[in-house]
Amino acid sequence: MLKNVSLTLRTETAKVDILKNINFQIATGETVGIVGPSGSGKTSLLMVLAGLEPVSKGHITVEEITLDRLKEDERSLFRRDHIGFVFQDFHLIPTMTAIENVAVPLEIASQDSPFSKAELALKAANMGHRTNHYPGELSGGEQQRVALARAIALKPKILLADEPTGNLDAKTGSQIMDIVFDLNKKYGTTIVLVTHDNQLAIRCRRQILLQDGQIKRNKVNAVIHP
Ligand SMILES: Nc1ncnc2c1ncn2[C@@H]1O[C@H](COP(=O)(O)OP(=O)(O)O)[C@@H](O)[C@H]1O
Ligand SMILES: [Mg+2]
Repeated sequence: MLKNVSLTLRTETAKVDILKNINFQIATGETVGIVGPSGSGKTSLLMVLAGLEPVSKGHITVEEITLDRLKEDERSLFRRDHIGFVFQDFHLIPTMTAIENVAVPLEIASQDSPFSKAELALKAANMGHRTNHYPGELSGGEQQRVALARAIALKPKILLADEPTGNLDAKTGSQIMDIVFDLNKKYGTTIVLVTHDNQLAIRCRRQILLQDGQIKRNKVNAVIHP
């Protein structure tokens, strides 16, 4: 839940109001598409939801945890325990193979058998055949699937994805989104995704339209296209 959330960042020359008095609630197990023009604050909103960026004003409560009161190390624990994040540009570690990229967060979270869990996650993302490849040896779609495997390996309650199909052709993009929507169906994972793809937005239960850092529309889709 976001209550009167604002985000103001300082650049060298000015203060920029990026999110302005944002209010909304997302139910557990919901799928939400965030749409809006470039520069409207979509990425910033995801960062705030993930606890990657502290808010300037207002309150954010996720799974009964009030994020705006947490210190940075507490926010990072919150992320580890609750959030899977898929970045628009993957953020894979280039010197690690696919399976190492997926296993490392599991190791950090002190999970048993991180490598077998990583392998299962890669298989779930249709990447079981490329576990020992480095990111540089993979296509954009394959890297995106590794990034997705990494995000889902910890079985997060909430999956946040920033334009997860932005760099992919339509077919690969839709395969990746099938995996994401399956997670929602199988495990009730809450999904929040930023997209400029209308086909994708109408697969979500609800759409939030951001414009100039403000919510312009927040409505349940009349028809959901699975
Ligand atoms: N670190 C930053 N410092 C200052 N301004 C920023 C920073 N990050 C993003 N912005 C500005 O915030 C606005 C929203 O950016 P962003 O959330 O990336 O939008 P979107 O993802 O919708 O394209 C843009 O005007 C962008 O230039
Ligand atoms: Mg963005």
